[in-house]
Amino acid sequence: MCGIVGYIGGQQAAPLLLEGLTRLEHRGYDSAGLAVLGPSGVRVAKQAGRVRDLGDGLPKRFTGKIGIGHTRWATHGPATDANAHPHTDESGRVAVVHNGIIDNAAALRLELADAGVELVSDTDTEVLAHLVARSTADTLEARTAEALARVEGTYGIAVTHADFPDRIVVARNGSPLIIGVGKNEMHVASDLAALVRYTTTVAHLADGEMATVTADGFSTYLVRTIDGAGHVGLAATDRRASEVEIDPSSYDAGEHDSFMHKEMLEQPARAEAVLRGRLDEKFGTGHLGGLNLDARELRAIKRVKILGCGSAYYVGQMGAALIEELARIPADAEAASEFRYRNPIIEPDTLYVAVSQSGETIDTLLAVQEIQRKGGFVIGLVNVVGSAIAREVDGGIYLHAGPEVAVASTKALTNMFLAFAMLAVQLGRVRDLSISDGRRLIAGLNAIPGQVAEVLGREEELAEVARELAGAENLFFVGRVRGFPVAREGAQKFKEISYRHAEAYQTSELKHGPLALISPEVPTVAIVPDDELVERNVAALHEIAARGGPLTVVTHAGVDLGDLERTARRIDVPRSERELDPILLTIPLQVLAYHAALSLGHDIDKPRNLAKSVTVE
Ligand code: F6R
Repeated sequence: MCGIVGYIGGQQAAPLLLEGLTRLEHRGYDSAGLAVLGPSGVRVAKQAGRVRDLGDGLPKRFTGKIGIGHTRWATHGPATDANAHPHTDESGRVAVVHNGIIDNAAALRLELADAGVELVSDTDTEVLAHLVARSTADTLEARTAEALARVEGTYGIAVTHADFPDRIVVARNGSPLIIGVGKNEMHVASDLAALVRYTTTVAHLADGEMATVTADGFSTYLVRTIDGAGHVGLAATDRRASEVEIDPSSYDAGEHDSFMHKEMLEQPARAEAVLRGRLDEKFGTGHLGGLNLDARELRAIKRVKILGCGSAYYVGQMGAALIEELARIPADAEAASEFRYRNPIIEPDTLYVAVSQSGETIDTLLAVQEIQRKGGFVIGLVNVVGSAIAREVDGGIYLHAGPEVAVASTKALTNMFLAFAMLAVQLGRVRDLSISDGRRLIAGLNAIPGQVAEVLGREEELAEVARELAGAENLFFVGRVRGFPVAREGAQKFKEISYRHAEAYQTSELKHGPLALISPEVPTVAIVPDDELVERNVAALHEIAARGGPLTVVTHAGVDLGDLERTARRIDVPRSERELDPILLTIPLQVLAYHAALSLGHDIDKPRNLAKSVTVE
């Protein structure tokens, strides 16, 4: 959510910053801007709209070898030129880019206005530029630190100042900030995606840390308040850069028209990666070392509570069902965004599980902190290594999905499911799950990557269904028990990128109200696995068909839809073990959403109003 880039070195900054912003556009894409520090001082170009518009409109001679840039997802104030970052002070000598939210911005704005400062934007960030400018400390570091000492909230920031033309000062508190080390040049970014083309030697700032970045290096420090007048001292820290193992091409869409398409098709390989080394075929169990729990501790768990947001929450529901079924431990999932607002009871023998692709989602992070504050034990199912949630949890399972750039999550969700399945088997095997059942499930898991590939191989057939569904303004996605979270995730993916109203419902609940909406104009996508509920499911589909509702049934070969076979469209997915069915039922729904959005001409990777990683409440 919002992206920061910075450059200092021997090259012209603007083209490098624009390139970095393009790589970060998935983090926010309603406005973008640059500030470069050159011979004539600070120059700023910023506007509402996409990074390419900013690049197209950039003056020819926008020179300077130091610069900062930003791509925005609006929080304070609408997407306008004035609200785009960088923000400057009245003299135009200070420029600031900021990710995060300053909670006391309103009070600081009033204070600045009382002091005669003319604020020109609606943003919280602008106050930072004025506060830095008004500090009388000797160094840019101390001025920035003094400004930050006034601020409550979260930030990743980068600051340049015409009076200190050899440096960028950066700081982090709750919003990532990474320094990339080049040869006689340095980069700054909020996300590795912006750096990896230039360098894979990076340092991640810790919360509360600041850094000075010059063309030939960086130094880091923590801020200490030294007196009541807000003066600060800086205590050096020993942060070093290290190599990250990352293939820069993982941040390129390659021959694909979108990252979503690329990431969907990567699923078989990424599913193999999350399973690798974690399946114990001999004892029919999972082998999840990162949990930091031995068999005795696993046995002592009385309940499992899963927390995540959006699609991660829906996969959490799939995970809870797996755990209840295989380990016979009561388990449920809850939206992390709601959790801490009901003063939750934290129990000592409950295993809390935070699930997040980015590891940055603020609602999930705050839920983790609430649990830990009350003495609970929480593990993470996280994709981004070293992210905030990954660092805070007591143990966990990395998802190994590789970088996920598309806003609509696909491969990370699949790997979340597989991680839950391994956790459920491991919890089950220290209880009553038999070794033969364990082996059956391990074999089932081993087969999943190939089966996912099989579904993805039918893209053309699914695209045809998608184009038809895209014609409807309103759709239902229905399922029961194991199939219901699948329906929720299918509806979520569909609405998020096609902008069609897709509503998920329990098939069993339709007749208690929503059946009134069924008509020939409202298609239903029904999840009907060949399980113990198949007959009841098929019976409910007849109720939809009787009202003229068009049906697409995601099911297994051999399921008899009776006389619906004549009118309903069916999508058969490969059979797995019943408990593992949800993931294979989910894959065609991703493809349907993708092709529906494509046929409607939408920007697949940058759906309106959304951004990757929601780091604000
Ligand atoms: C939907 C989607 C979102 C995320 C949610 C949580 O496709 O991507 O609903 O699942 O914002 O994000 P993470 O997993 O990063 O915590």
